[in-house]
Amino acid sequence: MSPLTDFGTAHNSTLEAVDRLQKDGAYPLFPVITQREVTRAWIRPHDTAVDHPVTVFGSADYLGLARHPKVVQGALDATRRFGTGMYGIQAVGGYTTLHEELEEALAAWSGHPGALLFPTGMQANLGVLGTLAGPGDVVFADRFNHQSITMGLELSGAAVRAFRHNDPEHLAELLRTAGPPAGRPGRRLIVVDGLFSADGDLAPLPEIAELAERYDALLVVDEAHSAGTLGDRGRGAAELLEVRDRVDVITGTFTKAFASSGGFACAGTEMVRLLRHSARSYLLSAGLPAGTVGASLAALQVLAQEGEERRRRLRDNAAELRRALAAAGVDTAGSMAHVVVVPVGLMDRTARVARRLADRGLLVCPLIPPAVPIGGARLRLGVSAEHTADDIANAVRLLSEALAGEAQ
Ligand SMILES: Cc1ncc(COP(=O)(O)O)c(C=O)c1O
Repeated sequence: MSPLTDFGTAHNSTLEAVDRLQKDGAYPLFPVITQREVTRAWIRPHDTAVDHPVTVFGSADYLGLARHPKVVQGALDATRRFGTGMYGIQAVGGYTTLHEELEEALAAWSGHPGALLFPTGMQANLGVLGTLAGPGDVVFADRFNHQSITMGLELSGAAVRAFRHNDPEHLAELLRTAGPPAGRPGRRLIVVDGLFSADGDLAPLPEIAELAERYDALLVVDEAHSAGTLGDRGRGAAELLEVRDRVDVITGTFTKAFASSGGFACAGTEMVRLLRHSARSYLLSAGLPAGTVGASLAALQVLAQEGEERRRRLRDNAAELRRALAAAGVDTAGSMAHVVVVPVGLMDRTARVARRLADRGLLVCPLIPPAVPIGGARLRLGVSAEHTADDIANAVRLLSEALAGEAQ
């Protein structure tokens, strides 16, 4: 191997796995989307010349807003008004009246006094955690948190105590034994996903909020998959579990239920002011294009009118998918909502099943390392309010056939 193609053991084995899957016709990643409707798409797998239709269960357009005429119109109007690019960072030139309006709308939606927009949800986590925690602080994090949280904590330089997934007793034990933080007195932080992206279950937020209060820790909840979709007003897992006013900061993304792009944080006014002037992933990266902000604003407006009905359909569809998969003998682990996870185990097996499904007309999301631990590969199905009963029945049939085919 030449030094130019020897990337070290871990990277070499990633590329070997890619070679192996591509050679076996089992590579499921980067299918090219050639057309897109609400829950249908036409995909061209990397090794074929023609596209074919699939029903999309691999997307996070949970409320079916990505083709909503008002959301599309919001993007078009904003682009006509401010152009396509952002011309710079938000602090100088990249912050329009639409950005200001979206921050206000987000604060009103979330119930937190303030909000700010990040270029992506990942950057929201990097910025919030990299700013609110620092060397000498101690952060308590669920082991199954999204990797953008883990990366934010690495960036922060804080000491991290990882607690067993959704285990408040373990969290309590770690808080008890951690001792006082060595840096700024009292600076402890607890961070969890509201709805876990790779597991489909909800964080036990009431117990966690209780511990945050008892140990004087800031509580940060990533509502990426729950914003818009959970709670009576779609404010997320914290609303659903009735702890909204006990959470200090929520982070999230517009790429899922809000059918747009970009990230956000909602918090108290002073904390937002601090993030605005200190979070490097906010300050040093260009602002969101106006068209994207226009789409997000329109999505929030549509949700104020149609959210309840769309959330009801999403809940019903998710319950039906979980019920039908269980009836077909397919394990969905602890999935509790519209993120439905089917554990498979080995990466190659997961990739083969995902590719077979795609070839037969069902697009699901394979979660393989590094997104999940080695041996913990799985398929993720994202339910949409727009899926029909037939879509769900077909998905269950195809999935159980593909898993059975793999078992032989
Ligand atoms: C829980 C969670 N947080 C953050 C992110 C990052 O969001 P974005 O795609 O906007 O960077 C994701 C993305 O999938 C996620 O699942």
